[in-house]
Amino acid sequence: MATIEIPVFLRSATGRMTRRQHLERSLASIIQAGGVNLDNGDRIMPAPFLLGRREETLAPLARQFGYPYSTDVEAVFRNPPDHAVYFEGSPTKLHHEGLTRAIDSGMHVYTEKPLTLSVDESLDLVRRCRQRGVCGGVVQDKRYLCGPAQAMDLIDRGLIGQPLHVLLDFGYFVHPDDGTRPDWNADKAEGGGIILDMVSHWDYLLKHLVGQPSRVSAHAALHIKQRTRNGQPVPTTAEDSVYATFEADSALSPEPVVCTTVSSWCRRPRKRGLLEIRIQGTEGAAEVYLDRCYWISNERTPSIAWDPDTASREDFPEGWELYEQAAVPENAFRHQWELFLRHVVTGSENPASLLDGAQGVETANQTAASAAAMGTPATIRNVRSLL
Ligand SMILES: NC(=O)c1ccc[n+]([C@@H]2O[C@H](COP(=O)([O-])OP(=O)(O)OC[C@H]3O[C@@H](n4cnc5c(N)ncnc54)[C@H](O)[C@@H]3O)[C@@H](O)[C@H]2O)c1
Repeated sequence: MATIEIPVFLRSATGRMTRRQHLERSLASIIQAGGVNLDNGDRIMPAPFLLGRREETLAPLARQFGYPYSTDVEAVFRNPPDHAVYFEGSPTKLHHEGLTRAIDSGMHVYTEKPLTLSVDESLDLVRRCRQRGVCGGVVQDKRYLCGPAQAMDLIDRGLIGQPLHVLLDFGYFVHPDDGTRPDWNADKAEGGGIILDMVSHWDYLLKHLVGQPSRVSAHAALHIKQRTRNGQPVPTTAEDSVYATFEADSALSPEPVVCTTVSSWCRRPRKRGLLEIRIQGTEGAAEVYLDRCYWISNERTPSIAWDPDTASREDFPEGWELYEQAAVPENAFRHQWELFLRHVVTGSENPASLLDGAQGVETANQTAASAAAMGTPATIRNVRSLL
């Protein structure tokens, strides 16, 4: 039983996502559990190394976890250890530059989504990885959350028949005066905007639920035109909402599945969670939240008569059941780290390749193109044909 140590260099380790989801809830948690077990009895032990720009924020974080750190990213690129993984957690605009240097130095790479700002940049990374013979992966956490994962299982088993329609409603209200999201998110020139941010999630989520989006018609909006930064009012430049309809090519359905989506930082949720997905099929329907999935079959669907005096005051819980058949991971981010580390060490299936990440960028950018053309439908290319 051997222990295979994999050095993992985390850039922008103090960032919101890297610190909490990747360092604390994934890598530290894997280490605490004794590593990632392999079928042959060996185990993979990640060895985190924190990278960042500022000593004063990086050093306390490194001390808190007991991992080494450096503000000299260049030194790592010049002389990386064997089998090292580089994780990119910087703002999206910086992904291409950081990942390029990591790949060229011979490191495997794993990155937050969206992969890059443009499809050209994404495909450049795919080609570089192939040339250097290193592995590349992109975060697709929403796939592994309990609700969506149960829904994928439900649909795969044919329990709601052919998917007919998806209604995806996401978001929360980001108050103009508080900083619950990083400033760059509201700044177009810095790579901000909800389209790239969230449509890069919806691309793989819709693909794994009903089928790959192949066409889109979208409207974008900048509802909150000014936000406060360091006590000063600043005009916002990136869209904070997008209302997009996708056509997804489903293996289960002869016709494209229409997927209506709302993504907004100007949405006030009342029901559970920040994401609600309702999927109608020929044999039943699913109602999906981040943490759970309900479903109903046609047999259990009550017969509802339209009567505004009664139906307008009723809930319709009858016939709906919680779907819990699939084994789902406790922690989506940690689960994908485990899958990616196994892929690096054993060559097992890559959960989400850089090419998959490039597809997400294509879907997001075509959504933006449609929005810029006042909703004129745009074709979403299969990026595999562009290589
Ligand atoms: N998977 C998800 O659900 C999810 C959620 C939010 C964000 N993200 C993605 O994660 C990435 C980071 O987002 P975040 O919300 O953690 O951002 P953040 O602003 O909280 O963190 C970014 C980090 O990058 C550092 N940084 C900023 N400018 C830099 C520069 N010029 N050079 C080097 N480092 C720099 C900052 O100091 C900070 O540590 C983005 O690509 C974003 O799209 C993913």
